[in-house]
Amino acid sequence: MKVLTFKTIEEIGAAAGKMFVDVVKANDKAVLGLATGATPVPTYDYMAQACRKGEVSFKNVTTFNLDEYCDLPKEHKNSYYTFMFENLFSKIDVDPANVNFLNGNAPDAQAESDRYAEAIEAAGGIDIQFLGIGRNGHIAFNEPADKFTNNAFKVHLTQSTIEANSIYFDDIPMPHYAMTMGIGSIMRAKKIVLVATGKAKAEAVRTMLSGDIDPHCPASILQAHPDCTVILDEDAASLL
Ligand code: PGA
Repeated sequence: MKVLTFKTIEEIGAAAGKMFVDVVKANDKAVLGLATGATPVPTYDYMAQACRKGEVSFKNVTTFNLDEYCDLPKEHKNSYYTFMFENLFSKIDVDPANVNFLNGNAPDAQAESDRYAEAIEAAGGIDIQFLGIGRNGHIAFNEPADKFTNNAFKVHLTQSTIEANSIYFDDIPMPHYAMTMGIGSIMRAKKIVLVATGKAKAEAVRTMLSGDIDPHCPASILQAHPDCTVILDEDAASLL
């Protein structure tokens, strides 16, 4: 894995954002794997700015988001669908017909998983995948477990994740279930960019990079990916 450390959030956003922009410049029909949370925002700002300046167009790209809460209306302010439109899709020229999400309210989780896997395959696979990392080492909502997962599935979120994300829920309790892409879906991406910032991520970053490949730190599987770049601030890198 390639590890890059920067001092500021802006530098991190520019480094990760440029990787996405470069992929799209090389192939305007690229397939982008996208993430939500606080971490990707500076990267999405960079991508939006590059689009505004006319440096790149996202008109022909296809996107797949990593995960979505269950039991939350798609239009709720805390859905990942809403997050993506507010933080990226409304600021770039992507065609809304080409953006894909897992349906957290699908009645049959297995059928929804199969649908997403088929859609990713039909699009030609993910060219570049954005990832954050949870304090417990999760990627997407693949929580620490006894084995690595493959395609998308419905997950019961851990207490650590519920504590980290419930700060965003002020009107209703945070959902305890989500649909998430599995580890296999993530590992099949041709290129992966993982960004981590802040001291709260330092332990997970250390275990990801220097521990054994172990499903109890799901991000450790990335050691086996042929093209994975990890972008950190000094706090997240402080235990390396
Ligand atoms: P964060 O979440 O970017 O909000 O810290 C990352 C994650 O849990 O994967």
